[in-house]
Amino acid sequence: MKNFNSAKEEIFVLGIESSCDETACAVVKNGREVLSNVIVSQIDIHKLYGGVVPEIASRNHVEAIDKVASLALEQSGKTLNDIDLIAVTYGAGLVGALLVGVSFAKGLSQATGIPLVGVNHIEGHICANYLNHPELQPPYVCLLTSGGHTAIIRVDGYVDYTVLASTVDDAVGEAFDKVARVLGYSYPGGPNIDKNAAKGKPGYKLPGVVVSNGNFSYSGLKTAVINTVHNVEQRGEQVNKEDMCASFTHAAIDGLISRSGQLLLESGLKKFAVAGGVGANSYLRAEAEKLGKRLGVKVYLPQLVYCTDNAAMIAAQGYYMAKEGGEFSDLTLNACPTLKLRGKKPD
Ligand code: KG4
Ligand code: ZN
Repeated sequence: MKNFNSAKEEIFVLGIESSCDETACAVVKNGREVLSNVIVSQIDIHKLYGGVVPEIASRNHVEAIDKVASLALEQSGKTLNDIDLIAVTYGAGLVGALLVGVSFAKGLSQATGIPLVGVNHIEGHICANYLNHPELQPPYVCLLTSGGHTAIIRVDGYVDYTVLASTVDDAVGEAFDKVARVLGYSYPGGPNIDKNAAKGKPGYKLPGVVVSNGNFSYSGLKTAVINTVHNVEQRGEQVNKEDMCASFTHAAIDGLISRSGQLLLESGLKKFAVAGGVGANSYLRAEAEKLGKRLGVKVYLPQLVYCTDNAAMIAAQGYYMAKEGGEFSDLTLNACPTLKLRGKKPD
């Protein structure tokens, strides 16, 4: 295995991501500069089934991964000889899908001698902001809003996190997708709700998502939407979908923003970042900016392409794991579908 020289001026990382329904590879310089970012989405295939079918996802990853990696190298203007590290998502996600990326990365590392590091997908999402905000450095507060996770995290260092609040049941993205299904929108529901919410008014009364201990719960909100739709239909009427999208969006996001505000004040930190797929939501982005103005806090939003799954964020996290943490993986690296954020509990 080649040595990883953390003092090298230019470090190139090949990122590999296959945790769900995107096959993605990217080349990133020094954890910040994206040289290529190739994403092959399977959304159109899974749309037919109303959600991701794990077996179909794995098969499509197998077919795509080699070509996606070659394309990422080609578009970056680099070859495998230039790559200093291979960073691959090993969890959380669908086990069969993860295995495709992990096996491919292990094989490539063995064949070339390029060091390997397994990356936690959630930590990758947090890194998305480094790709378009060169000045952003820890410590800061991050609101992580993805399809599988919802948390407010104090990012103490590049590989050092404290979880300040998190969901006790569904993730916010999951709630968006489930509510979209109830309203008859296709998978993935989040972007459809976003589009339609902009045309509606938040007139339906729905419960908030912050529970008494300061964590979040989305199951009550989801049930309230379902009950409201059923009640309206039982009266022989139709729910106003655009108003319901607006009402749900406000209920789902207002609590995340208000709780972020409290935790920012408690932390005394003046930097607030948003990450994850729901970070692409236009209402959430606008409310985060407003919160920043109100508190005198600088707000960092990822570019839309870095909110949802991509391999550039995985390369960025891999870079910091190797450089700051001296963390590498060997052939024992395995897919871990239930991997958690390795955050500390607050003091
Ligand atoms: O972070 P992500 O790509 O995958 C996970 O790691 O889970 O997040 C995907 C989630 C889906 O639930 C999708 O509906 C949601 O992000 N999403 C959105 C928007 N774009 C994607 N939710 C609300 N508004 C959007 N514009
Ligand atoms: Zn993700």
